[in-house]
Amino acid sequence: MTGLVAGKVAMVTGSGSGIGRASALKFAEEGAKVVVSDVNVDGGNETVAIIKKAGGEATFIKCDVSKAVEVEALIKGVVDTYGRLDCAYNNAGIEGDAATTINCTEENFDLNYQINLKGVWLCMKYEILQFLAQGDGGAIVNTASVAGLVGVKGSPAYVAAKHGVVGLTKTAALEFAKKDIRVNAVCPGVIETPMVERLTGGAEEGKAKVAKWQPVGRLGQPSEIAATAVWLCSDQASFVTGHAMPVDGGIMAA
Ligand SMILES: NC(=O)c1ccc[n+]([C@@H]2O[C@H](COP(=O)([O-])OP(=O)(O)OC[C@H]3O[C@@H](n4cnc5c(N)ncnc54)[C@H](O)[C@@H]3O)[C@@H](O)[C@H]2O)c1
Repeated sequence: MTGLVAGKVAMVTGSGSGIGRASALKFAEEGAKVVVSDVNVDGGNETVAIIKKAGGEATFIKCDVSKAVEVEALIKGVVDTYGRLDCAYNNAGIEGDAATTINCTEENFDLNYQINLKGVWLCMKYEILQFLAQGDGGAIVNTASVAGLVGVKGSPAYVAAKHGVVGLTKTAALEFAKKDIRVNAVCPGVIETPMVERLTGGAEEGKAKVAKWQPVGRLGQPSEIAATAVWLCSDQASFVTGHAMPVDGGIMAA
């Protein structure tokens, strides 16, 4: 524990599982009070229990990030609980269905858009409004993907949404740079989470196949994304804004 975000209030969406849970744990370990948010109530409460067991401070607030009223209520809930918001990690997302551009259904495209893209915009909107009301800045990290930087065959809707997250990140970073509000994105490679278990069927063979996509030859761990997200939110990253940072075992170097 280095106290990277000591005394700060952090909120993480999609923190009932995977990368979000690891990040909520890391924020707490580094000294923040944490609001855990997810549509999955059991997963969210479990994350809170893990943080509390380790001696940290956390509260769960349910929120579907694709619904404006729920996102507005989430940010209000953060402020009602801990008095302010300093760090927001907009991480909730879905993988959608695997399908090429000509096989992708309108339903799949709309769902990816609603959760993976509109959800991030809605979160940023209400977080930035809160930062402006507080008047002393703030830091946002959005989960994009390497699929937000390059095309991926068989995943048009997800790729389009994640490219959109990078665009939203850069735009908000420019708009609020003079207000001391930093906005960055993290672009994970393939990380060993329930999402990847679903994509690979959970079998070692499937995991080994996707591990080979990464020059380091292994899957990333949720804690490796968490460490990046917390650092980007911390004062150590005070001159970093508008950046889409690959954390991908070298995929983007190829
Ligand atoms: N795992 C990877 O390899 C990988 C790679 C690149 C990017 N990502 C991105 O990382 C993020 C986290 O993924 P993960 O791998 O931890 O997956 P995960 O499925 O383990 O966790 C995602 C969480 O988001 C929640 N969620 C889904 N829809 C929601 C909604 N509408 N509102 C609020 N919460 C919602 C889920 O309930 C779940 O708890 C996602 O944005 C994903 O696209 C993951």
